[in-house]
Amino acid sequence: MKLFILLIQLLHFCNAEKPNVHFFFRTAHPDVDFHQKRLTAAKESVLTQAKALSSQDRVFADELEKREDYYSHFLVVNALPYVKERLKENTAWIFIGEETTRVELEFLLPYIDNLDKSHEPVIIGRPLFDQEITIIHHFFGSSGSEYKTFGFPDYEAGFLINIPMLNALISHYSDWEKDQNFNIDPKHEFMKFVKTHLNVDLAPSKHFCGGNWHRSPKTCYTRSHKELHDCGLSEKEKIFVGVKTTEMFHKDRLKVVKRTWGPKFDNIIYYSNVSDPNIPTVRSGPNTERGHCQKLYHIMEAFLKMTGYDWLYVADDDTIVSAYRIHRLTACYNPEEPVFIGERYGYNLNSHGYPYITGGGGMLFSRAAVEKWKKLGCKCPAPDTPDDMMIGLCFHNGGVPIVHLNNFHQARPDDYSEGYLDNNTPVSFHKHWNCDPLQIYANWFGIDDMKWWATRAHDFNDQEFKHEEL
Ligand SMILES: *[C@@H]1O[C@H](CO)[C@@H](O)[C@H](O)[C@H]1NC(C)=O
Repeated sequence: MKLFILLIQLLHFCNAEKPNVHFFFRTAHPDVDFHQKRLTAAKESVLTQAKALSSQDRVFADELEKREDYYSHFLVVNALPYVKERLKENTAWIFIGEETTRVELEFLLPYIDNLDKSHEPVIIGRPLFDQEITIIHHFFGSSGSEYKTFGFPDYEAGFLINIPMLNALISHYSDWEKDQNFNIDPKHEFMKFVKTHLNVDLAPSKHFCGGNWHRSPKTCYTRSHKELHDCGLSEKEKIFVGVKTTEMFHKDRLKVVKRTWGPKFDNIIYYSNVSDPNIPTVRSGPNTERGHCQKLYHIMEAFLKMTGYDWLYVADDDTIVSAYRIHRLTACYNPEEPVFIGERYGYNLNSHGYPYITGGGGMLFSRAAVEKWKKLGCKCPAPDTPDDMMIGLCFHNGGVPIVHLNNFHQARPDDYSEGYLDNNTPVSFHKHWNCDPLQIYANWFGIDDMKWWATRAHDFNDQEFKHEEL
Protein backbone atom coordinates (compact mmCIF):
# COMPACT_ATOMS: atom_id res chain seq x y z
CA MET A 1 0.00 0.00 0.00
CA LYS A 2 2.78 2.36 0.97
CA LEU A 3 4.56 1.57 -2.24
CA PHE A 4 1.41 2.26 -4.17
CA ILE A 5 0.99 5.70 -2.62
CA LEU A 6 4.61 6.43 -3.28
CA LEU A 7 4.10 5.45 -6.89
CA ILE A 8 1.08 7.71 -7.20
CA GLN A 9 3.04 10.57 -5.69
CA LEU A 10 5.92 9.91 -8.02
CA LEU A 11 3.59 9.89 -11.02
CA HIS A 12 2.01 13.07 -9.85
CA PHE A 13 5.43 14.61 -9.41
CA CYS A 14 6.47 13.62 -12.94
CA ASN A 15 3.28 14.99 -14.37
CA ALA A 16 3.72 18.28 -12.56
CA GLU A 17 7.19 18.53 -14.03
CA LYS A 18 5.99 18.22 -17.58
CA PRO A 19 5.89 21.65 -19.18
CA ASN A 20 2.83 23.20 -20.74
CA VAL A 21 1.96 23.04 -24.41
CA HIS A 22 -0.05 25.84 -25.98
CA PHE A 23 -1.95 25.39 -29.24
CA PHE A 24 -2.78 28.35 -31.48
CA PHE A 25 -4.98 28.22 -34.55
CA ARG A 26 -5.15 30.65 -37.46
CA THR A 27 -8.56 31.38 -38.90
CA ALA A 28 -9.71 32.34 -42.40
CA HIS A 29 -11.74 35.05 -40.66
CA PRO A 30 -12.85 35.52 -37.05
CA ASP A 31 -15.97 37.55 -37.91
CA VAL A 32 -17.55 35.06 -40.28
CA ASP A 33 -19.79 32.45 -38.72
CA PHE A 34 -18.61 29.49 -40.75
CA HIS A 35 -14.97 30.12 -39.82
CA GLN A 36 -15.65 31.06 -36.23
CA LYS A 37 -17.31 27.66 -35.82
CA ARG A 38 -14.38 25.82 -37.33
CA LEU A 39 -11.97 27.73 -35.13
CA THR A 40 -13.97 26.89 -32.03
CA ALA A 41 -14.10 23.24 -33.10
CA ALA A 42 -10.31 23.17 -33.50
CA LYS A 43 -9.75 24.56 -30.01
CA GLU A 44 -12.39 22.36 -28.43
CA SER A 45 -11.00 19.27 -30.06
CA VAL A 46 -7.65 19.88 -28.36
CA LEU A 47 -9.19 20.69 -24.98
CA THR A 48 -11.52 17.70 -25.01
CA GLN A 49 -8.65 15.36 -25.79
CA ALA A 50 -6.51 17.00 -23.11
CA LYS A 51 -9.21 16.29 -20.58
CA ALA A 52 -9.51 12.67 -21.65
CA LEU A 53 -5.74 12.36 -21.16
CA SER A 54 -5.94 14.13 -17.77
CA SER A 55 -3.68 16.82 -19.18
CA GLN A 56 -6.08 19.74 -19.06
CA ASP A 57 -3.77 21.52 -16.62
CA ARG A 58 -0.95 21.73 -19.11
CA VAL A 59 -2.62 21.94 -22.52
CA PHE A 60 -4.10 25.21 -23.74
CA ALA A 61 -5.77 26.28 -26.97
CA ASP A 62 -6.39 29.72 -28.44
CA GLU A 63 -6.85 31.55 -31.70
CA LEU A 64 -3.57 32.92 -32.99
CA GLU A 65 -4.73 36.39 -33.98
CA LYS A 66 -5.84 39.27 -31.84
CA ARG A 67 -9.16 40.46 -33.27
CA GLU A 68 -8.12 44.09 -33.84
CA ASP A 69 -4.90 43.06 -35.57
CA TYR A 70 -6.34 40.07 -37.31
CA TYR A 71 -4.94 40.56 -40.82
CA SER A 72 -1.35 41.26 -39.80
CA HIS A 73 -1.38 38.60 -37.08
CA PHE A 74 -2.39 36.08 -39.73
CA LEU A 75 1.22 36.41 -41.00
CA VAL A 76 2.27 34.67 -37.75
CA VAL A 77 5.39 36.76 -36.99
CA ASN A 78 3.20 39.77 -36.13
CA ALA A 79 1.21 37.63 -33.72
CA LEU A 80 4.20 36.33 -31.74
CA PRO A 81 4.42 39.11 -29.12
CA TYR A 82 0.71 38.54 -28.47
CA VAL A 83 1.29 34.78 -28.31
CA LYS A 84 3.96 35.35 -25.70
CA GLU A 85 1.63 37.47 -23.57
CA ARG A 86 -0.85 34.64 -23.37
CA LEU A 87 1.53 31.82 -22.46
CA LYS A 88 1.25 30.30 -19.03
CA GLU A 89 4.39 29.92 -16.97
CA ASN A 90 6.40 26.83 -17.68
CA THR A 91 5.34 26.56 -21.32
CA ALA A 92 7.91 24.77 -23.45
CA TRP A 93 6.28 24.29 -26.83
CA ILE A 94 3.89 26.23 -29.02
CA PHE A 95 1.90 24.54 -31.75
CA ILE A 96 0.54 26.67 -34.59
CA GLY A 97 -2.03 25.26 -37.00
CA GLU A 98 -5.04 26.23 -39.10
CA GLU A 99 -8.70 26.20 -38.13
CA THR A 100 -8.89 23.06 -40.29
CA THR A 101 -6.02 21.32 -38.49
CA ARG A 102 -6.88 18.54 -36.08
CA VAL A 103 -4.34 16.98 -33.75
CA GLU A 104 -4.17 13.50 -32.24
CA LEU A 105 -3.15 14.57 -28.78
CA GLU A 106 -2.74 10.99 -27.64
CA PHE A 107 0.30 10.74 -29.94
CA LEU A 108 1.39 14.35 -30.21
CA LEU A 109 1.68 15.07 -26.50
CA PRO A 110 4.07 12.18 -25.67
CA TYR A 111 6.06 13.14 -28.76
CA ILE A 112 6.38 16.73 -27.53
CA ASP A 113 7.27 15.56 -24.02
CA ASN A 114 10.11 13.50 -25.40
CA LEU A 115 11.64 16.27 -27.47
CA ASP A 116 15.07 17.54 -26.43
CA LYS A 117 14.98 20.47 -24.09
CA SER A 118 17.10 22.61 -26.33
CA HIS A 119 18.18 26.15 -25.57
CA GLU A 120 18.55 26.66 -29.30
CA PRO A 121 15.60 27.78 -31.43
CA VAL A 122 13.76 24.80 -32.92
CA ILE A 123 10.91 24.52 -35.43
CA ILE A 124 9.35 21.17 -36.36
CA GLY A 125 6.76 20.43 -39.01
CA ARG A 126 5.96 18.95 -42.39
CA PRO A 127 8.26 20.53 -44.94
CA LEU A 128 7.00 21.63 -48.33
CA PHE A 129 9.40 22.23 -51.21
CA ASP A 130 9.24 24.29 -54.36
CA GLN A 131 9.58 22.42 -57.62
CA GLU A 132 10.69 25.55 -59.42
CA ILE A 133 11.50 29.19 -58.86
CA THR A 134 8.17 30.90 -58.51
CA ILE A 135 6.64 34.33 -58.44
CA ILE A 136 4.56 33.45 -55.36
CA HIS A 137 7.80 33.08 -53.38
CA HIS A 138 9.28 36.31 -54.72
CA PHE A 139 11.51 34.24 -57.05
CA PHE A 140 13.32 32.80 -54.05
CA GLY A 141 16.46 30.90 -55.00
CA SER A 142 16.90 32.44 -58.41
CA SER A 143 20.64 32.72 -57.72
CA GLY A 144 21.10 28.98 -57.12
CA SER A 145 19.30 25.76 -56.41
CA GLU A 146 18.60 26.42 -52.73
CA TYR A 147 14.86 26.56 -53.39
CA LYS A 148 14.80 22.82 -54.06
CA THR A 149 15.94 21.92 -50.57
CA PHE A 150 14.45 24.79 -48.62
CA GLY A 151 11.66 23.25 -46.57
CA PHE A 152 8.88 25.53 -45.33
CA PRO A 153 6.11 24.39 -43.00
CA ASP A 154 2.78 23.14 -44.24
CA TYR A 155 0.46 25.23 -42.08
CA GLU A 156 -2.38 22.77 -42.36
CA ALA A 157 -0.17 20.09 -40.87
CA GLY A 158 0.74 22.59 -38.16
CA PHE A 159 4.19 23.16 -36.69
CA LEU A 160 5.93 23.38 -33.32
CA ILE A 161 8.27 26.05 -32.05
CA ASN A 162 10.04 26.12 -28.71
CA ILE A 163 10.43 29.13 -26.43
CA PRO A 164 13.98 29.98 -27.61
CA MET A 165 12.54 30.20 -31.14
CA LEU A 166 9.70 32.42 -29.99
CA ASN A 167 12.08 34.78 -28.19
CA ALA A 168 14.58 34.85 -31.03
CA LEU A 169 11.87 35.78 -33.52
CA ILE A 170 10.47 38.49 -31.27
CA SER A 171 13.97 39.94 -30.89
CA HIS A 172 14.10 40.29 -34.70
CA TYR A 173 10.67 41.85 -34.92
CA SER A 174 11.94 45.19 -36.23
CA ASP A 175 13.64 43.40 -39.15
CA TRP A 176 10.30 41.85 -39.99
CA GLU A 177 8.52 45.19 -39.96
CA LYS A 178 11.20 46.80 -42.09
CA ASP A 179 10.78 44.29 -44.89
CA GLN A 180 8.17 46.18 -46.90
CA ASN A 181 6.71 43.92 -49.51
CA PHE A 182 3.71 42.10 -50.85
CA ASN A 183 2.63 39.37 -48.45
CA ILE A 184 1.83 36.43 -50.67
CA ASP A 185 2.53 33.12 -49.00
CA PRO A 186 2.92 33.59 -45.24
CA LYS A 187 4.32 30.11 -44.59
CA HIS A 188 7.18 30.61 -47.03
CA GLU A 189 7.83 34.17 -45.95
CA PHE A 190 7.88 33.08 -42.29
CA MET A 191 10.41 30.31 -42.87
CA LYS A 192 12.59 32.53 -45.02
CA PHE A 193 12.69 34.97 -42.10
CA VAL A 194 13.66 32.18 -39.70
CA LYS A 195 16.41 31.03 -42.04
CA THR A 196 17.74 34.51 -42.77
CA HIS A 197 17.88 35.79 -39.22
CA LEU A 198 18.41 32.66 -37.14
CA ASN A 199 19.93 30.28 -39.67
CA VAL A 200 17.62 27.51 -38.49
CA ASP A 201 16.04 24.93 -40.80
CA LEU A 202 12.68 23.30 -40.39
CA ALA A 203 13.15 19.97 -38.61
CA PRO A 204 10.97 17.52 -40.53
CA SER A 205 8.49 15.13 -38.98
CA LYS A 206 6.56 12.72 -41.15
CA HIS A 207 3.89 12.50 -38.47
CA PHE A 208 2.68 16.01 -39.18
CA CYS A 209 0.40 14.99 -42.00
CA GLY A 210 -1.96 17.79 -42.96
CA GLY A 211 -4.06 16.94 -45.97
CA ASN A 212 -2.13 13.85 -47.00
CA TRP A 213 -3.04 11.77 -43.98
CA HIS A 214 -5.08 9.33 -46.03
CA ARG A 215 -2.20 8.64 -48.36
CA SER A 216 -0.01 6.59 -46.11
CA PRO A 217 -0.32 4.11 -43.27
CA LYS A 218 1.95 6.01 -40.85
CA THR A 219 0.66 7.41 -37.59
CA CYS A 220 -0.43 10.99 -38.04
CA TYR A 221 -0.17 13.40 -35.13
CA THR A 222 -1.95 16.05 -37.14
CA ARG A 223 -4.26 16.06 -40.12
CA SER A 224 -6.61 18.31 -42.04
CA HIS A 225 -9.42 17.46 -44.39
CA LYS A 226 -8.80 17.55 -48.07
CA GLU A 227 -12.38 17.76 -49.25
CA LEU A 228 -14.42 20.94 -49.35
CA HIS A 229 -16.71 21.34 -46.40
CA ASP A 230 -20.11 19.92 -47.30
CA CYS A 231 -22.61 22.77 -46.99
CA GLY A 232 -24.69 21.63 -49.93
CA LEU A 233 -24.85 23.53 -53.20
CA SER A 234 -25.91 27.06 -54.10
CA GLU A 235 -28.63 27.24 -56.71
CA LYS A 236 -27.42 28.09 -60.18
CA GLU A 237 -29.81 31.06 -60.42
CA LYS A 238 -28.11 32.64 -57.43
CA ILE A 239 -24.63 33.08 -58.87
CA PHE A 240 -23.62 35.73 -61.36
CA VAL A 241 -20.19 35.76 -62.99
CA GLY A 242 -18.44 38.73 -64.56
CA VAL A 243 -15.33 38.08 -66.65
CA LYS A 244 -12.92 40.95 -67.28
CA THR A 245 -11.48 40.80 -70.75
CA THR A 246 -10.30 42.97 -73.63
CA GLU A 247 -10.45 42.73 -77.42
CA MET A 248 -6.92 41.42 -77.70
CA PHE A 249 -7.87 38.24 -75.83
CA HIS A 250 -11.23 37.43 -77.43
CA LYS A 251 -9.65 34.93 -79.79
CA ASP A 252 -7.38 33.03 -77.43
CA ARG A 253 -8.16 33.39 -73.73
CA LEU A 254 -11.92 33.62 -74.15
CA LYS A 255 -11.85 30.65 -76.47
CA VAL A 256 -10.41 28.63 -73.60
CA VAL A 257 -12.99 29.96 -71.16
CA LYS A 258 -15.78 29.10 -73.58
CA ARG A 259 -14.42 25.58 -73.99
CA THR A 260 -14.06 24.99 -70.27
CA TRP A 261 -15.69 26.64 -67.29
CA GLY A 262 -17.59 29.56 -68.86
CA PRO A 263 -20.65 27.62 -70.04
CA LYS A 264 -20.83 25.77 -66.71
CA PHE A 265 -22.16 28.94 -65.14
CA ASP A 266 -25.73 29.78 -66.08
CA ASN A 267 -25.29 33.52 -65.66
CA ILE A 268 -22.09 34.88 -67.08
CA ILE A 269 -21.19 38.08 -68.89
CA TYR A 270 -17.90 38.88 -70.59
CA TYR A 271 -16.99 42.53 -70.09
CA SER A 272 -14.65 43.96 -72.70
CA ASN A 273 -13.64 47.28 -74.24
CA VAL A 274 -15.57 46.40 -77.43
CA SER A 275 -18.81 44.57 -77.91
CA ASP A 276 -18.24 41.47 -80.00
CA PRO A 277 -21.36 39.51 -80.98
CA ASN A 278 -19.32 36.33 -81.56
CA ILE A 279 -18.64 35.82 -77.86
CA PRO A 280 -20.80 37.85 -77.03
CA THR A 281 -19.12 40.55 -74.96
CA VAL A 282 -20.55 43.62 -73.31
CA ARG A 283 -18.71 46.92 -73.53
CA SER A 284 -17.70 48.24 -70.12
CA GLY A 285 -15.53 51.22 -71.05
CA PRO A 286 -12.10 51.76 -72.59
CA ASN A 287 -9.29 49.25 -72.27
CA THR A 288 -6.78 49.67 -69.45
CA GLU A 289 -3.41 47.92 -69.39
CA ARG A 290 -2.23 48.09 -65.81
CA GLY A 291 -5.23 47.56 -63.54
CA HIS A 292 -8.97 47.31 -64.00
CA CYS A 293 -10.57 49.37 -61.27
CA GLN A 294 -13.00 51.02 -63.63
CA LYS A 295 -13.98 47.67 -65.15
CA LEU A 296 -14.54 46.02 -61.78
CA TYR A 297 -16.66 48.90 -60.52
CA HIS A 298 -18.67 48.78 -63.75
CA ILE A 299 -19.39 45.08 -63.10
CA MET A 300 -20.37 45.77 -59.48
CA GLU A 301 -22.74 48.53 -60.57
CA ALA A 302 -24.26 46.22 -63.17
CA PHE A 303 -24.66 43.50 -60.53
CA LEU A 304 -26.61 45.85 -58.27
CA LYS A 305 -29.04 46.59 -61.08
CA MET A 306 -29.85 42.90 -61.45
CA THR A 307 -32.13 41.21 -58.98
CA GLY A 308 -32.21 37.70 -57.59
CA TYR A 309 -28.50 36.97 -57.35
CA ASP A 310 -26.83 36.16 -54.04
CA TRP A 311 -23.26 36.00 -55.29
CA LEU A 312 -20.96 37.83 -57.66
CA TYR A 313 -17.83 36.05 -58.86
CA VAL A 314 -15.43 38.23 -60.84
CA ALA A 315 -12.74 36.42 -62.82
CA ASP A 316 -10.03 37.32 -65.30
CA ASP A 317 -10.15 35.95 -68.82
CA ASP A 318 -7.18 33.74 -67.87
CA THR A 319 -8.65 32.44 -64.63
CA ILE A 320 -9.30 28.68 -64.58
CA VAL A 321 -12.06 27.80 -62.17
CA SER A 322 -14.42 25.01 -61.18
CA ALA A 323 -18.04 26.13 -61.47
CA TYR A 324 -19.20 23.21 -59.39
CA ARG A 325 -16.86 24.06 -56.53
CA ILE A 326 -17.94 27.72 -56.57
CA HIS A 327 -21.48 26.45 -56.12
CA ARG A 328 -20.25 24.28 -53.24
CA LEU A 329 -18.23 26.96 -51.45
CA THR A 330 -20.82 29.70 -51.56
CA ALA A 331 -23.31 27.44 -49.79
CA CYS A 332 -21.21 27.75 -46.60
CA TYR A 333 -21.89 31.48 -46.25
CA ASN A 334 -24.80 33.79 -45.72
CA PRO A 335 -25.13 36.11 -48.75
CA GLU A 336 -27.03 38.58 -46.60
CA GLU A 337 -23.85 39.26 -44.65
CA PRO A 338 -21.11 41.27 -46.33
CA VAL A 339 -18.31 38.83 -47.11
CA PHE A 340 -15.49 38.96 -49.65
CA ILE A 341 -13.75 35.68 -50.44
CA GLY A 342 -10.67 34.48 -52.35
CA GLU A 343 -6.93 34.12 -51.97
CA ARG A 344 -5.89 36.88 -49.62
CA TYR A 345 -2.63 38.69 -50.14
CA GLY A 346 -1.31 41.68 -48.24
CA TYR A 347 0.38 44.89 -49.16
CA ASN A 348 2.91 45.71 -46.42
CA LEU A 349 0.69 43.94 -43.93
CA ASN A 350 3.76 43.21 -41.80
CA SER A 351 3.80 46.90 -40.86
CA HIS A 352 0.86 49.16 -41.66
CA GLY A 353 -0.54 47.89 -44.92
CA TYR A 354 -3.79 46.23 -45.89
CA PRO A 355 -5.16 42.90 -47.14
CA TYR A 356 -6.80 42.26 -50.48
CA ILE A 357 -8.16 39.35 -52.50
CA THR A 358 -5.77 38.81 -55.35
CA GLY A 359 -7.78 39.11 -58.57
CA GLY A 360 -6.36 36.28 -60.68
CA GLY A 361 -7.88 33.48 -58.61
CA GLY A 362 -11.21 35.27 -58.79
CA MET A 363 -13.03 37.49 -56.30
CA LEU A 364 -16.21 36.27 -54.70
CA PHE A 365 -18.63 38.86 -53.27
CA SER A 366 -21.81 38.27 -51.35
CA ARG A 367 -24.65 40.50 -52.49
CA ALA A 368 -24.45 42.30 -49.16
CA ALA A 369 -20.76 43.03 -49.80
CA VAL A 370 -21.55 44.68 -53.14
CA GLU A 371 -24.32 46.69 -51.49
CA LYS A 372 -21.89 47.72 -48.76
CA TRP A 373 -19.40 48.84 -51.42
CA LYS A 374 -22.07 51.10 -52.88
CA LYS A 375 -22.80 52.58 -49.47
CA LEU A 376 -19.14 53.12 -48.73
CA GLY A 377 -18.87 55.11 -51.96
CA CYS A 378 -15.34 53.96 -52.78
CA LYS A 379 -13.93 55.52 -55.94
CA CYS A 380 -11.26 54.48 -58.41
CA PRO A 381 -8.31 56.89 -58.14
CA ALA A 382 -7.77 56.19 -61.88
CA PRO A 383 -9.48 53.82 -64.33
CA ASP A 384 -6.34 51.68 -64.46
CA THR A 385 -5.70 51.42 -60.70
CA PRO A 386 -5.22 47.76 -59.69
CA ASP A 387 -8.79 46.69 -58.98
CA ASP A 388 -8.06 43.97 -56.46
CA MET A 389 -5.97 46.23 -54.26
CA MET A 390 -8.47 49.09 -54.48
CA ILE A 391 -11.47 47.00 -53.50
CA GLY A 392 -9.37 45.37 -50.75
CA LEU A 393 -8.51 48.74 -49.28
CA CYS A 394 -12.13 49.87 -49.61
CA PHE A 395 -13.46 46.80 -47.80
CA HIS A 396 -10.70 46.85 -45.21
CA ASN A 397 -11.55 50.45 -44.28
CA GLY A 398 -15.26 49.69 -44.47
CA GLY A 399 -15.09 46.65 -42.20
CA VAL A 400 -16.18 44.03 -44.74
CA PRO A 401 -14.63 40.66 -43.78
CA ILE A 402 -11.97 39.65 -46.32
CA VAL A 403 -11.82 35.87 -46.10
CA HIS A 404 -8.78 33.87 -47.09
CA LEU A 405 -9.46 30.51 -48.67
CA ASN A 406 -6.49 28.56 -49.92
CA ASN A 407 -8.70 26.87 -52.47
CA PHE A 408 -8.24 29.92 -54.70
CA HIS A 409 -4.93 30.36 -56.51
CA GLN A 410 -3.37 33.41 -58.10
CA ALA A 411 -0.82 31.30 -60.00
CA ARG A 412 -0.50 28.08 -62.00
CA PRO A 413 -0.40 24.62 -60.40
CA ASP A 414 3.34 24.47 -61.16
CA ASP A 415 3.91 27.48 -58.90
CA TYR A 416 2.79 25.58 -55.79
CA SER A 417 4.56 22.74 -54.08
CA GLU A 418 2.98 19.37 -54.70
CA GLY A 419 2.56 18.68 -51.01
CA TYR A 420 0.55 21.84 -50.60
CA LEU A 421 -1.76 21.30 -53.57
CA ASP A 422 -2.35 17.79 -52.35
CA ASN A 423 -3.72 19.21 -49.09
CA ASN A 424 -6.88 20.77 -50.33
CA THR A 425 -9.38 20.94 -53.12
CA PRO A 426 -8.47 23.80 -55.46
CA VAL A 427 -11.26 25.97 -56.78
CA SER A 428 -9.23 28.12 -59.13
CA PHE A 429 -5.88 28.68 -60.81
CA HIS A 430 -4.67 31.59 -62.89
CA LYS A 431 -2.65 32.35 -66.04
CA HIS A 432 -2.40 30.75 -69.43
CA TRP A 433 1.29 31.55 -69.70
CA ASN A 434 3.70 28.65 -70.03
CA CYS A 435 1.04 26.04 -69.35
CA ASP A 436 -1.91 24.36 -71.03
CA PRO A 437 -5.08 25.82 -69.54
CA LEU A 438 -7.29 23.18 -71.17
CA GLN A 439 -5.26 20.48 -69.53
CA ILE A 440 -5.25 22.24 -66.16
CA TYR A 441 -9.01 22.54 -66.28
CA ALA A 442 -9.40 18.89 -67.28
CA ASN A 443 -6.96 17.64 -64.65
CA TRP A 444 -8.18 19.62 -61.71
CA PHE A 445 -11.81 20.50 -62.31
CA GLY A 446 -13.11 18.71 -65.37
CA ILE A 447 -14.47 15.56 -63.76
CA ASP A 448 -16.25 17.35 -60.93
CA ASP A 449 -17.72 19.96 -63.25
CA MET A 450 -18.80 17.41 -65.86
CA LYS A 451 -20.40 15.09 -63.36
CA TRP A 452 -22.32 17.92 -61.80
CA TRP A 453 -23.25 19.37 -65.16
CA ALA A 454 -24.42 16.02 -66.51
CA THR A 455 -26.47 15.51 -63.37
CA ARG A 456 -28.12 18.85 -63.82
CA ALA A 457 -28.67 18.36 -67.51
CA HIS A 458 -30.45 15.09 -66.91
CA ASP A 459 -32.28 16.40 -63.91
CA PHE A 460 -30.99 13.71 -61.59
CA ASN A 461 -31.08 13.97 -57.88
CA ASP A 462 -28.06 15.86 -56.57
CA GLN A 463 -27.90 13.57 -53.57
CA GLU A 464 -26.39 10.88 -55.72
CA PHE A 465 -23.24 12.89 -55.95
CA LYS A 466 -23.11 14.16 -52.43
CA HIS A 467 -19.50 14.64 -51.51
CA GLU A 468 -17.62 13.34 -48.58
CA GLU A 469 -18.05 15.21 -45.30
CA LEU A 470 -15.06 16.84 -43.58
C1 LIG B 1 -9.65 47.58 -77.17
O1 LIG B 1 -8.51 47.04 -76.53
C2 LIG B 1 -7.50 46.60 -77.41
C3 LIG B 1 -6.46 45.91 -76.57
O2 LIG B 1 -6.98 44.70 -76.12
C4 LIG B 1 -6.97 47.75 -78.22
O3 LIG B 1 -5.98 47.30 -79.12
C5 LIG B 1 -8.12 48.38 -78.98
O4 LIG B 1 -7.68 49.53 -79.65
C6 LIG B 1 -9.26 48.76 -78.03
N1 LIG B 1 -10.42 49.18 -78.83
C7 LIG B 1 -11.18 50.20 -78.48
C8 LIG B 1 -12.34 50.48 -79.40
O5 LIG B 1 -10.99 50.87 -77.47
